Amino acid sequence: MKKKNLADRPGVKSPAPARLATGSIGLDSILEGGFPANRLYLVEGDPGTGKTTLALKFLLAGVAAGEPVLYVTLSETKEELLAVADSHGWSLDGVNIYELIPSEESLKTETQNTIFHPSEVELGETTSAVLEEVERIQPSRVVFDSLSEMRLLARDPLRYRRQILGLKQYFAGRQCTVLLLDDRTSTVGDLQVQSIAHGVIELEHMALEYGAERRRLRVVKLRGSRYRGGYHDFNIETGGVAVYPRLVAAVHHREFAREAVTSGVKELDALLGGGLDRGTSTLMLGPAGSGKSSIAAQFAAAAADRGEHAASFLFDEGRDTYLTRTAGLGKDIRGQVEAGRLSVQQVDPAELSPGEFAHRVSRSSRSAPAFTRTPSARCASRPTASRWANRSPISTAS
Ligand SMILES: Nc1ncnc2c1ncn2[C@@H]1O[C@H](COP(=O)(O)OP(=O)(O)O)[C@@H](O)[C@H]1O
Ligand SMILES: [Mg+2]
Repeated sequence: MKKKNLADRPGVKSPAPARLATGSIGLDSILEGGFPANRLYLVEGDPGTGKTTLALKFLLAGVAAGEPVLYVTLSETKEELLAVADSHGWSLDGVNIYELIPSEESLKTETQNTIFHPSEVELGETTSAVLEEVERIQPSRVVFDSLSEMRLLARDPLRYRRQILGLKQYFAGRQCTVLLLDDRTSTVGDLQVQSIAHGVIELEHMALEYGAERRRLRVVKLRGSRYRGGYHDFNIETGGVAVYPRLVAAVHHREFAREAVTSGVKELDALLGGGLDRGTSTLMLGPAGSGKSSIAAQFAAAAADRGEHAASFLFDEGRDTYLTRTAGLGKDIRGQVEAGRLSVQQVDPAELSPGEFAHRVSRSSRSAPAFTRTPSARCASRPTASRWANRSPISTAS
């Protein structure tokens, strides 16, 4: 083993690297500020999981910060990439795209030995061409999409590993942050590159029994840095990648007065010993038509009347139906909704991931609601391990 990155050498303390915005606020938060700069990362996931989209967002964040950036594409053509960007309404002006689709010739067995020449770090001619481009552009962010083509070119696993190591060493001496995208079509779970990379992010998507497909991501490793572990739901939406960091209750603790929250209905409050205790959860049970929604609406309206905020999440009733029905009970809350003290959101649990739902609830609680109503039995519960295990794989060609 030759030169070693200083940061990797045990006992040598280097200052914590600066963080680079990933282009997604949620992912930045999971990574505690973004990718540590000037390192090499692996983003892996099956075709269609969102690697290209995430990588483009990462480069666009660089462009926004005035950095030179480079996208090396080995799988999609420049036109295809431009079409993806176009579908999101992004302009790729400022993103240098280097198209490196391996020729059929270079993939033939008989020519394989002439593609690569051994050098100090064994880089193939193909890789050398990319590095020339890097020398020319001096990018601070580079994306390689994807590794499976590089694996094909390298042919044997040892040469492939040396190539990736060579890339890592090459970039270690530059002010450059590299994303390697891997669609895992060539080998299952390539631990070699995982071990070489400073950080690994895994993307997944899957179809549940019913409803929209679900996407989630996980930081598998991030050397020398803290991050929020576990699975985080995310969505690819027109215009970006929305990542919903897993909610950790302890992080969101804040001080508040321990007092009774009243409904405004004297008899009910008396029954409850003055009201509901602030900061607690109450489950209201009863058959259809027994008044659960009405009582909950009463609590929300009373909170708004006191100048507090309340949020209602409706799982089985339309928003308009709810507002009209509440008005019919003599409690017209539409004024409070318009004034922004009451938020009434309709939720389709089949279309919404638990992470996105939790995000919506926590976002609405940032405006300090006194009260949050969620029909608990139908609440979009976090999918259990078995629910994910029973998933049917989605086959989307990328
Ligand atoms: N403009 C868009 N709006 C919303 N979703 C999109 C858009 N473009 C692509 N997608 C979603 O992103 C997925 C492809 O993501 P992509 O980044 O190309 O995956 P990968 O590079 O991992 O193969 C598509 O399957 C589609 O679901
Ligand atoms: Mg792709």
